[in-house]
Amino acid sequence: MYKLLARPLLFRFTSDYAHELTIKTAKSVSEKKWLLKSTGALYNYSNPALRQKIWGLDFKNPVGLAAGFDKNATIAPLMENFGFGFLEIGSITAQPSTGNPKPRSFRLTKDQSLINRLGLNNDGAQTISRRARKLQLGIPLGINIAKTHNPEVMGEAALIDYKTSFDLVKGFADFITINISCPNTEEGKTFEEPESLNRLLEILELNIDSSLPPVLIKFSVDLEPQNLKELIEICENHAVSGYVATNTSSKRENLTTSTHKITSIGRGGLSGKAIAHKSTAIIKQISELTKGEKTIIGVGGISSGSDAIDKLKAGADLLQIYTALVYEGPSVVKKINKEIVDYMKLNDLDHIYQIK
Ligand SMILES: Cc1cc2nc3c(=O)[nH]c(=O)nc-3n(C[C@H](O)[C@H](O)[C@H](O)COP(=O)(O)O)c2cc1C
Repeated sequence: MYKLLARPLLFRFTSDYAHELTIKTAKSVSEKKWLLKSTGALYNYSNPALRQKIWGLDFKNPVGLAAGFDKNATIAPLMENFGFGFLEIGSITAQPSTGNPKPRSFRLTKDQSLINRLGLNNDGAQTISRRARKLQLGIPLGINIAKTHNPEVMGEAALIDYKTSFDLVKGFADFITINISCPNTEEGKTFEEPESLNRLLEILELNIDSSLPPVLIKFSVDLEPQNLKELIEICENHAVSGYVATNTSSKRENLTTSTHKITSIGRGGLSGKAIAHKSTAIIKQISELTKGEKTIIGVGGISSGSDAIDKLKAGADLLQIYTALVYEGPSVVKKINKEIVDYMKLNDLDHIYQIK
């Protein structure tokens, strides 16, 4: 239905406007219980073989909503009814931000990919945490935090900025993702430098405060193996509970879209099919470096059961999607889950844990 009706309509608009319209509509559905019920009936899919208990939390299926889609925690009830196994809200930042000027997101339809330079637009940690803590969901809720999109917030102020958001959400989030890999800030991804990351994790006191929810680090898909190794070593010294792999790419690899179009779009993070294999390679490396002992959320170009299986085999425990929602619509969640179950049946596997 999405591909037949909604997508042709949404794709007539710019990618920026289509997303705004989607969020507006989704927000108004989220506020109406009777409408929510009917979406739930349409998209619901459950199978015991997909259930996992991770960090003491129940995940009814492995497919989660990736950060960036519901930045402000305004559409979580509808997203739950679309059948997601968990949600990640954000990125939220200590200060609200309107982000970069538009246009700031672009479809590469031939490549089932997107380029965005939204620049961490969000209502700010205070407002969003107030909104998010009231949510009554039946699935785990993660909050993704990033540094405020303002180049003047740097050095010690950048650490305090992260800590401000962290403190606001640590009391109610089921897990917290620290986004150190947003490619759309003017000052660059400074916290993907080992010393800065070490300092950030020290400030958050992961080693000291045992009451904290699980904390995950989200990496870029562009990290070189040696750089990733150094960062993982630091994370492992700081009681990090897991990793989100990966964020978008600043590179322009694996594309069939014309160079002219790519050049005219300009900078931004590439997501979707084009980054699928690179992201799987990063998952594999993290899994090897952590000897499979840490939870990995695999994200980057998943739009089918087979994409999901690739990531699970590489070492992911949970998955997330963003770009596939734009191209395939919400039924893609059920489709991915069903196709994982089909794969298990075909290979005589009783449970998702056994996909290796
Ligand atoms: C428009 C857009 C906005 C995004 N915003 C965020 C964000 O605020 N924080 C974050 O950690 N990741 C953000 N992401 C990255 C996604 O969470 C995900 O890591 C990436 O898109 C790869 O997954 P996909 O190929 O399924 O889209 C964004 C992605 C897109 C396309």
